[in-house]
Amino acid sequence: MKYNLLKSTMLASAIAVTLPAQAAEVEVLHWWTSGGEAAALNVLKQDLEGQGIGWKDMPVAGGGGTEAMTVLRSRVQAGNAPTAVQMLGFDIQDWAAEGATANLNPLAKKEGWDKVVPAALQRFSKHGGNWVASPVNVHSTNWVWANKKILGELGYDQPPASWGDFIALLDKAKSKGYTALAHGGQAWQDATIFDGVVLSTGGPYFYKKAMVELDSEALGSDTMKTAFDRMRQLRGYVDANFSGRDWNLASAMVIENKAAVQIMGDWAKGEFINAGKKPGEDFMCFRVPGTQGMVTFNSDQFVMFKVGGSSAKSQMAMAKAVMSPKFQSAFNVVKGSVPARTDVPNTDFDACGKKGMKDLAEASASGMLMGSMAHGHAAPAAVKNALYDVVTNHFNSNMSSTDAVSQLVSAIEGAKD
Ligand code: GAL
Repeated sequence: MKYNLLKSTMLASAIAVTLPAQAAEVEVLHWWTSGGEAAALNVLKQDLEGQGIGWKDMPVAGGGGTEAMTVLRSRVQAGNAPTAVQMLGFDIQDWAAEGATANLNPLAKKEGWDKVVPAALQRFSKHGGNWVASPVNVHSTNWVWANKKILGELGYDQPPASWGDFIALLDKAKSKGYTALAHGGQAWQDATIFDGVVLSTGGPYFYKKAMVELDSEALGSDTMKTAFDRMRQLRGYVDANFSGRDWNLASAMVIENKAAVQIMGDWAKGEFINAGKKPGEDFMCFRVPGTQGMVTFNSDQFVMFKVGGSSAKSQMAMAKAVMSPKFQSAFNVVKGSVPARTDVPNTDFDACGKKGMKDLAEASASGMLMGSMAHGHAAPAAVKNALYDVVTNHFNSNMSSTDAVSQLVSAIEGAKD
């Protein structure tokens, strides 16, 4: 009896010692479940652990799809929002408009975020003039990731310059028995390719008219038909098992010398790096042919939800940690993206990261920086999802480009507010 009492007193004091540490915790909802993504997330976990803040992980697999937002909806409806949520573009605005988000203004003011975060990102991080999110990176979708050895074998030591050259490369890869285009057939991945194809086919002004302004004439134009023709062309270069494959497994096909190229955002670089591969030696990174100088971006932001008490303190610590220039460098070097601040040196970045930073600065200066439709930065979720449906139905059927274009026009018209 005495012994048990002693034991429970010891237990109680052990709990008393560990409790405060557990209280300083953030619960983070995200979809970073691939090897490269998990490695990048670790940089953040460790940063916070170093400040005595615990990490409660809330992963939702599904990549850039819509799964995470569905889980978030049920958490918020149950009155149990996570501390912070990885989110893209227009979704941030929707949640802030619902009044679900915290106000980061005092911190943002103290840390001078207004001066260092590019306007293109602030447009999403702020709602009604109030900061609601910490942008952690800038990704972009108009990239190609190529296996250097295979491209060498096919006679390419330089990236193909035009769409025609690119198709010639894919043909050669196919005839040598490689999977020419590594791809995972999920709607968001098809749409990611579509970003680059529309940009390459129509150029930046066309992209803006069609994907950002949602102009029916541009959406229904012959140029858009050509974009769908090109999607059909690309469909001919994927392997038989592409359907439903996760994007990181498609990256693995390039990494493992099975496929020549993947068209994917620069989170793919995180997979190459995580596999110990080096740019210029093992793989090449270049813009979708015809889109050099242009950037279709997306930025992952940690949206802070309304939470009370001690959670709010850890939440502000996280918001601050995410924005530190040192952290932005360390994190983005691993993630494949580039910093969400303009004052971070490129010193620690590899050649692809340096190119990403240069491309972003140039595109921003020349007006060729555009939001990615596939990743929620060109139009709100309803429009994005309407486009996903048409693009993926076309990719997975014999639908003609003419039908695809007319479906696109009516789907987007119906989804606009
Ligand atoms: C994107 C996101 C990236 C990466 C990718 C695949 O939407 O911005 O950070 O996670 O999805 O999961």
